[in-house]
Amino acid sequence: MTKLTSAAAWQNLTCHQIEMAGTSLNDLFAADPSRFDRFHAGIAGLLYDYSRTHITDETRDLLLELARATKVEKERDRMFRGDAINTSENRAVLHTALRRPIAGTVLVNGHNVMPDIATVLQQMADFSDLVRDGTWCGYAGDKITDVVNIGIGGSDLGPVMVTAALAPHHDGPRVHFVSNVDGAHIDGVLKNLNPATTLFLIASKTFTTQETMANAAVARDWLLASAVKRTAIAQHFVALSTNADAVTVFGIDPANMFPFWDWVGGRYSVWSAIGLSICLAIGFDKFRAFLNGAQAADDHFQSAPLEQNIPVLMALVGIWYRNFWGASTVAVLPYDQRLARFPAYLQQLDMESNGKSVDRDGNGVDYVTGPIVFGEPGTNGQHSFYQLIHQGTHLIPCEFLSVIHPDHAYVDLHQKLLANALAQPQALMTGQTLEQAQGDPARVFTGNRPSTMMMMNRLDPHTLGQLVALYEHKVFVQGIIWNLNSFDQPGVELGKTLATTLLKNWESGAPDADSSTKGLLAAIKRGGVR
Ligand code: F6P
Repeated sequence: MTKLTSAAAWQNLTCHQIEMAGTSLNDLFAADPSRFDRFHAGIAGLLYDYSRTHITDETRDLLLELARATKVEKERDRMFRGDAINTSENRAVLHTALRRPIAGTVLVNGHNVMPDIATVLQQMADFSDLVRDGTWCGYAGDKITDVVNIGIGGSDLGPVMVTAALAPHHDGPRVHFVSNVDGAHIDGVLKNLNPATTLFLIASKTFTTQETMANAAVARDWLLASAVKRTAIAQHFVALSTNADAVTVFGIDPANMFPFWDWVGGRYSVWSAIGLSICLAIGFDKFRAFLNGAQAADDHFQSAPLEQNIPVLMALVGIWYRNFWGASTVAVLPYDQRLARFPAYLQQLDMESNGKSVDRDGNGVDYVTGPIVFGEPGTNGQHSFYQLIHQGTHLIPCEFLSVIHPDHAYVDLHQKLLANALAQPQALMTGQTLEQAQGDPARVFTGNRPSTMMMMNRLDPHTLGQLVALYEHKVFVQGIIWNLNSFDQPGVELGKTLATTLLKNWESGAPDADSSTKGLLAAIKRGGVR
């Protein structure tokens, strides 16, 4: 047994789950009319309701005991302090420094990084002002109308999600995103653009990622095919990266590079120079409001007592169902179209961080770790996969999100949306008996299916910053409890290496590969299947 599964808190939770298994959510609500009051927590403009979970006072105490036993608070403080908690890469984890008030001090190897952060933020503010007001022009002297962010993973998903969520705030150039190495992606974007008025942001922490570098080269050729001089690159390409040498080799003037640092993980980089597309779309002041929202969530995570600490509670609800009730998935269900890409963003944040089976000490785990995260905006999901959530054989804890005030004037539509957002958790919990189903067993809903609700007043930059940071900290807390390094991603390497090997051995038909790979490659080379 590992230290975790042999811990008293873990053992107590295992026994407690057996006791709780016979108590339904309906029973819990019937026994306690004030259950909502006692099982929700909030920070300004945002409420987290976890009353529709199989959690009693005793459960919460036991889960908090587990958090304390695994030293969540101590590890949290080490992260904020800049200790090298990413042990496999011997790096600090300091995305939180990116949103701190600049006046503070955060040391990495004795160096205060706050002035460096201030310099890049100022560079982002100045540049986005110049582009947005038309001072920064394309090679023919025209205002930039379109920005294309070329990046993948953390260099794409954060800006994609945030620019979509804050679409009503856009007042700058149009922003587009190219991530996939599939030529259809860049083709679909470029064919509608004018090279003279398009600015490319090449977003890559390493500046070596195959997909990004290949797409950047296509974009450079596309520009040069229309620009008279190669010097046009300076007006149309900027780099968001940690790798100045590779940026220079690509042909981007280092003066047009927005740096960040190895202590910013890719999936935590939306707060860094990687957020430049957001600044260009909504302006720097609103980007700063997004950072300030995250800072407010950081303060809450650092100072709220654990029983009121939203990311800690979110993490513990997840641990409870994953490790003690056997749930293997989590559904993220935003009842807000602007958050359409939020589930995809969370997939990388959560699954790349905690999809691991070796712990921080290099030992295999004897407990399950990160869940499969999936989701779609409501109400679309209702007409797709909710059937399985309501009546299928899986236990799927659902994380609903909703926003009270929309940024549009369709009051009636919004009321319908919110009615659905409230009805779904109710249906999952309450179910429908055989009698209510008039004797038709196919229309019986067992109910007793757990969910949480994150409700926000508005989806503005500040609240979005809060929301994203709360999820980051949830993932952090779970990683600590599971004794994982949530900040590396060795699991993505093998496929990358094999793709490189295949490209090298393409012409020879990859003679050393397995017969499936060889057979499929042969079909590609033949130009068709039989
Ligand atoms: O998928 C692996 C990964 O390293 C992610 O963690 C990262 O966000 C992405 O690739 C992109 O990396 P880069 O920003 O270096 O191009």
